Amino acid sequence: MALVAVGKLKRIIERKNATKKYPPVSMAQATCLHQKPHYVFLQKWIPRNLLKSDSILEVCCGVGLFGTWLQSRGYTNYVGIDISPARIEVATEFNPLDFRVGDGRALAFKDKSFDFVGYANCFSYVTFAETYDCLKFLDEGLRVARKWLELDAVHSRPGWNPPSFERVHQWLRERGIEDNLIVERELFGNRRLWIVEL
Ligand SMILES: C[S@@+](CC[C@H](N)C(=O)[O-])C[C@H]1O[C@@H](n2cnc3c(N)ncnc32)[C@H](O)[C@@H]1O
Repeated sequence: MALVAVGKLKRIIERKNATKKYPPVSMAQATCLHQKPHYVFLQKWIPRNLLKSDSILEVCCGVGLFGTWLQSRGYTNYVGIDISPARIEVATEFNPLDFRVGDGRALAFKDKSFDFVGYANCFSYVTFAETYDCLKFLDEGLRVARKWLELDAVHSRPGWNPPSFERVHQWLRERGIEDNLIVERELFGNRRLWIVEL
């Protein structure tokens, strides 16, 4: 993403945080996509596997950088949700795409509503460290996804308690998804990403 766009996003975040109307929005969210390994992977995977008309749901979209990248590549059938109204407000001011406040544990969409559902940088992230939340995310993603579900996990950070990679595989198997349906896996140091073909 062009640095000028990121500069605009940072200025919006600074202004919103200064008003104290909402809880602070992390400036780390306004870093470039190329600094985020899951997005780096998806920027290559999506053009190889999705049609421009495919519908995409990004759960935990934060301030909306990935939706903006998708739009720049012609993927305009996009919805981004995040539980934080402050982040959705920043996302919408940055680029008025279909950003909505929503909870990934209880998605307000019908079954099989989206060709691709992704959690880039979020599934098993710090606030979802409890098994309960991960499973809610997984089951809701599987419910609303039609073709693909992207998950990721981060490991070995002090104070975090994400599920092990083996555990994620076990959850997928318990839901009838065998290893041969997990079409891509990548390791980024202590991170791993799965794309499940449904
Ligand atoms: C680590 S940030 C990642 C944001 C973005 N995907 C990125 O990489 O820049 C985690 C995001 O998940 C959102 N979030 C936390 N719990 C959520 C939930 N239950 N449903 C939807 N979003 C949630 C937070 O508000 C935050 O924006």
